[in-house]
Amino acid sequence: MADGGGAAASEKVTELSGSGVEKGLPRRGKASSGRTLNTAQIPLVASHPEVYEPCDDSFALVDALLSDKAQLLTLKPRLCMEVGCGSGYVITSLAIMLRQLASGTQYLATDINKHAAETTQATLEAHGVHADVIVTDIVSGLEKRLAGMVDVVVINPPYVPTPEEEIGCKGIASSWAGGLNGRQVINRILPAVREILSERGWLYMVALEDNDPLDICHLMSEMGHSEYNNLFRPDWFKA
Ligand SMILES: C[S@@+](CC[C@H](N)C(=O)[O-])C[C@H]1O[C@@H](n2cnc3c(N)ncnc32)[C@H](O)[C@@H]1O
Repeated sequence: MADGGGAAASEKVTELSGSGVEKGLPRRGKASSGRTLNTAQIPLVASHPEVYEPCDDSFALVDALLSDKAQLLTLKPRLCMEVGCGSGYVITSLAIMLRQLASGTQYLATDINKHAAETTQATLEAHGVHADVIVTDIVSGLEKRLAGMVDVVVINPPYVPTPEEEIGCKGIASSWAGGLNGRQVINRILPAVREILSERGWLYMVALEDNDPLDICHLMSEMGHSEYNNLFRPDWFKA
């Protein structure tokens, strides 16, 4: 919810167990049942050597959305947004899940990597859904236009603990490099999300235990988002 408001907004932190995720690319997960019709199809997801391909963390995020599909349809979000869209697998899946809301819902995706923006565009087109895709740092330049407007924000951020100098470096490493405790990019994302999330808005974000997801929830509470839901732990991350 926005500052000082009383309406319930929620944050859902999709927590990945650190033991299952190597530094760098987490292992690719199996498609779970129910994915086929409700999500982007992997063979139609575009790729580029400098763009993060859908991995277990992407699948966990989409599974969290899938498990909330009925509530999301009831919410009837006017604007859904993904920060750090990579291949476009997540925002495309969300648009497919909510397809029945038709033109009542708009989609926006950002990535700092221009190849990711192009790849996302290709993935969206391959599935016959639409989102505006913008190359920018988090939501830079969009804050005023989006202030309090976004009903669903989805983020699979760079969350892997790495040396600070890996942050923002060119190439695929910037997809996962999260600096100290994997929190460096996340800590910049949270206040930006606070600005754009609507009073009834929901945030879905992937986090590792190393990222201290409860602290993330507390920070969002301090920023005026008073309610958060249970952490989602996908079974396939257990050893
Ligand atoms: C872990 S990947 C996730 C990609 C995709 N969302 C998925 O789940 O498969 C993180 C993405 O965030 C992007 N990213 C990293 N830093 C960013 C920033 N400051 N602003 C916007 N996007 C960023 C990376 O380029 C990358 O595409």
